[in-house]
Amino acid sequence: MIPPPKLRLLDVTVTFRARHGALVPAIDRLSLDVADREIVSIVGPSGCGKSTLLRLVAGLVRPSSGEIRLDGHVVAEPGADRGMVFQSYTLFPWLTVQGNVEFGPRLRGMPDRHCRDVASRFIEIVGLAGFERAYPKELSGGMMQRVAIARALANDPEVLLMDEPFGALDAQTRVFMQELLLDIWEKTPKTILFVTHDIDEALFLGDRVYVMTARPGRLRDEVVLALPRPRTLEIETSEAFLAAKRRVLAMVREEAQRTTPEPSRLRA
Ligand SMILES: Nc1ncnc2c1ncn2[C@@H]1O[C@H](COP(=O)(O)OP(=O)(O)OP(=O)(O)O)[C@@H](O)[C@H]1O
Ligand SMILES: [Mg+2]
Repeated sequence: MIPPPKLRLLDVTVTFRARHGALVPAIDRLSLDVADREIVSIVGPSGCGKSTLLRLVAGLVRPSSGEIRLDGHVVAEPGADRGMVFQSYTLFPWLTVQGNVEFGPRLRGMPDRHCRDVASRFIEIVGLAGFERAYPKELSGGMMQRVAIARALANDPEVLLMDEPFGALDAQTRVFMQELLLDIWEKTPKTILFVTHDIDEALFLGDRVYVMTARPGRLRDEVVLALPRPRTLEIETSEAFLAAKRRVLAMVREEAQRTTPEPSRLRA
């Protein structure tokens, strides 16, 4: 028997009401199945609904129609089974690295000892052992994102939702973080939805790249990456990688040209 998908979005439509009253269709009848421990990269032009898609899975946005199921259960609200990492640094500035990573387990009423152990484990996995007592303002951007990843993992989520998590980092740190993420994934495999504008990043990380159309976002196409794991940067020069890159780039460019202004901008 084929196992049911870990995550299923079925015919999901989202329409927002903008402040000036106009309806903004953000996502249109989007369906997506994600297998357990699969990494699906999501690309598409700005405003096509990528963040909205993640927020739907996080339970922060309700679909206007259609449904989202995680392990067969309808997603109706946020929960610790879904961890989110954003582009902007979202650490609590008044908490130390340790405090930030412990936050989730503490919120769930786990015993002190457990919180400390879990935090130490993930701080070590992201390579920040020794920085437990540092505050976010004392860290670099890459370090802060590593804390954000550790914080998300400390809840032992079923699904990790990553919204351009490395978008604000310099190119070198970014590649380092991609390798680190795959390394962590090898140790603690999670189902990951990874939104990015960087096509190389999408291909390097993903088992599949899900290309969205211009707003309202639908599935344009998906590219399956039959690239071996564990992945090393050398694959970026392989013929299979380059062929997939050409395909994805062509689709994203075409969709970007199709992007229509939002009603608010039309009026301005
Ligand atoms: N809370 C909201 N209220 C009204 N409109 C919204 C809301 N959130 C998103 N939108 C609109 O929905 C559309 C999709 O937005 P979303 O943030 O999901 O795009 P995106 O693909 O993540 O874009 P980017 O690549 O620029 O981050 C946009 O037109 C946006 O203005
Ligand atoms: Mg976004």
